[in-house]
Amino acid sequence: MVFFLTTLSRMILADLFRKGTKVTLPPSRPQPMVDRCACHEVTFADIQDWARHREETTLDDIRDHWECGRSCGMCRPYLRRMLQTGDVQIPLMIPSN
Ligand code: FES
Repeated sequence: MVFFLTTLSRMILADLFRKGTKVTLPPSRPQPMVDRCACHEVTFADIQDWARHREETTLDDIRDHWECGRSCGMCRPYLRRMLQTGDVQIPLMIPSN
């Protein structure tokens, strides 16, 4: 389906260019960012502030204290990235199979 739509879009654009039609591309969208554990409504900034006062923090520590990662688990890769980089806003990760 994606291939079909991409091919169709290219064909329409090529036709417009051939006819000399001026095409204005839409502005690029901002990259979606993740800044919290959605299940427990805890921001990564709050967790980072808490972790700053600790000698070492692991995913298990965060789960035990904040419950983050205990429910759906979708925040775990973001928490892992937060612990590695210190970033509290992390680009949306799309799982690949
Ligand atoms: S988003 Fe953190 S446990 Fe679901």
